Amino acid sequence: MLKFLQEQYRTLPLPSTYAPSLAGKTVIITGANVGLGFETAKHLATLHPGRLILACRDPKKAQAAVREIQQSTGSKRVEAWQLDISSNSSVKAFAEKFAKEGGGKLDVLIENAGVNSPKMDRTPDGWEKNIGVNHLGTSHLAFRMLPFLLQAPQPRLVIVASAVHYFTKQPELMNRADLLQSLNKDKPANKFEGFDGTQRYNISKTMNVLWARALAKRIPSSSALTVTTVAPGFCISSLLRDQSIRLRIFASLVARTTEVGSRTIAHAAVAPEVQGKTGVYLSNCEEAEPSDFVISKAGAETEAKLWDETLDVLGKVDPEVPRIVQTHLCN
Ligand SMILES: NC(=O)c1ccc[n+]([C@@H]2O[C@H](COP(=O)([O-])OP(=O)(O)OC[C@H]3O[C@@H](n4cnc5c(N)ncnc54)[C@H](OP(=O)(O)O)[C@@H]3O)[C@@H](O)[C@H]2O)c1
Repeated sequence: MLKFLQEQYRTLPLPSTYAPSLAGKTVIITGANVGLGFETAKHLATLHPGRLILACRDPKKAQAAVREIQQSTGSKRVEAWQLDISSNSSVKAFAEKFAKEGGGKLDVLIENAGVNSPKMDRTPDGWEKNIGVNHLGTSHLAFRMLPFLLQAPQPRLVIVASAVHYFTKQPELMNRADLLQSLNKDKPANKFEGFDGTQRYNISKTMNVLWARALAKRIPSSSALTVTTVAPGFCISSLLRDQSIRLRIFASLVARTTEVGSRTIAHAAVAPEVQGKTGVYLSNCEEAEPSDFVISKAGAETEAKLWDETLDVLGKVDPEVPRIVQTHLCN
């Protein structure tokens, strides 16, 4: 707890003090209309990106964010594109639009959009929401944007994970057949499958870390793509809206602002020292060790299983996914 509190109050560097210009570069940030994504977009807008695309599910909120960022930073290169990562068809449409209008290469993709759903709820495609949005939607978009990332000279893929992945109870239970399907049942077959929103969110964030490590291992050596996960720290945001009053009071005492938390995301996306550190987990603007489970033998087995199952699930709804894997990744 002491370490957690010390870290929460750490002073983190402003991207404008160390980051190179983003001139000529295309950057996409998902869930950038509010919270950590919005504040990250504001930081990156000050670095003069060629294009800064806010990929958001609600076009009105996204346009309001564009206006606010343009006014506060003076950047005219900010635009809003519609994207709902809980919907396969929306992810596909987004990638197809980028293929036509994106200019060929993508320099930075920040996958920040996420939910913390305390109740059993489903995405339009029928997946439990925490897993469907935070893991499946995030992985789907990463797969679809991979060909464009691989066209850029020093691309980055940043997935916003969380320190709560350390608190996943009995993570070794994730290493079993049909992990994704078993987390999606209406009627639990055992205690692990019973719905606990907090644990489901923590599992989804463990999946982010495992999946990013799996992807990083499969990037061909001919590409400089750096894949990282980042924990922004505990921040006050609308993610807390459906959480218990106890957690919200705790947050009011110790949580960071989203502006401070967003510095960690911007760091993962643009800090020169991160280039080439592929597969790492970042926290407080530096490399950190992920959970004991993630780096254990059982963690490695779960990572491989999660990779295969994710590919299988996404391949059934989007044939482009296995094609991209076959064409662009190593086995
Ligand atoms: N806050 C924290 O303490 C904390 C700590 C660790 C990690 N994180 C992670 O940081 C990320 C951002 O969280 P935040 O705290 O900034 O929360 P937030 O303020 O609730 O922002 C979440 C963003 O994700 C978007 N989003 C949700 N579902 C989406 C979907 N299906 N498609 C597209 N966009 C979607 C939201 O859009 P709408 O506005 O339309 O809902 C919003 O823009 C999340 O991945 C979260 O897990 C947060």
